[in-house]
Amino acid sequence: MKKLSLFSPGTIANISCGFDVLGVALDEVGDVMHFEVTDKPGWQISEIKGADLPLDVAKNTAGVAGLSLLNTYKSQGGDPPGFSLMIEKNIKAGSGIGSSAASASGAVWGLNELLNRPFSPLELVSFAMEGEKLASGVAHADNVAPGIFGGFTLIRSYEPLDIVALPCPDDLYAVVLHPQIEIKTQDARSILKTQLSLRQATTQWGNLGGLIAGLYTNDYGLISRSLVDVVVEPIRSLLIPGFDELKKTMLESGALGAGISGSGPSVFGLAQGNDQARSIAQAIEINYRQWGIDFEVHCAKINTQGIKMIQA
Ligand code: HSE
Repeated sequence: MKKLSLFSPGTIANISCGFDVLGVALDEVGDVMHFEVTDKPGWQISEIKGADLPLDVAKNTAGVAGLSLLNTYKSQGGDPPGFSLMIEKNIKAGSGIGSSAASASGAVWGLNELLNRPFSPLELVSFAMEGEKLASGVAHADNVAPGIFGGFTLIRSYEPLDIVALPCPDDLYAVVLHPQIEIKTQDARSILKTQLSLRQATTQWGNLGGLIAGLYTNDYGLISRSLVDVVVEPIRSLLIPGFDELKKTMLESGALGAGISGSGPSVFGLAQGNDQARSIAQAIEINYRQWGIDFEVHCAKINTQGIKMIQA
């Protein structure tokens, strides 16, 4: 294979009760990336459409993730050809739906395909985390893992990296409202408390276990009861204009639960079925206008495949 194009999905990290350990991939919302094997040696980003981001591979999340993969490949005796990458960015930076992760995970996934898959999905996640580190200062995996594995993923452990791909009910949808303000993940992390009370921890891990059990058993009631975050949301929601009312509107129009998507400002709701998702989308589109902030609403089925080849 000399070239390929892929779709790298947007992702919702945390999903309320799973700060840094839970994430899910979305259908339809995502970036498109075009790779080519080149005669010129090295790894380069030729163009980025739709965003003003550095082309220098050492300063770009896709670039750094790709470098991490290629350096490991070389350290294991591989002799890679040259590669060039063109990115169509559809996910805005600082949106909370995994913009940097889509670039980083797409880059390593595409390179791995062109090298005939020398690396496992788990290894790809560890390379992509280098891109996340560049973007936010922290190598969190809860956006890149669902991009690479698809569906819902649990980061059971960071050291050693241990990822569990979780099942997902067939008709689960996500609705995401993205207010067009930027919140940098690094800033949204810097305001978090580093200590929890035992009561908060108990509530949080009860809900995390409940959500995962609900995914395994298709129990929408359990999923709904478990979409609660007593640790991060009370602090970060203050950065999102209209958060409380937006969440209330989602719940009143039938969402199973709602919360902050990743580090915000996007707010997500989960829904059972497309019709429910569409009516939530309609309700929040009307309700959010009062804040005078431009916004976009995405309505997407859960993407159980993750990154997809769109042209070989
Ligand atoms: N878990 C990360 C955070 C996700 O909440 O900071 C960022 O997208």
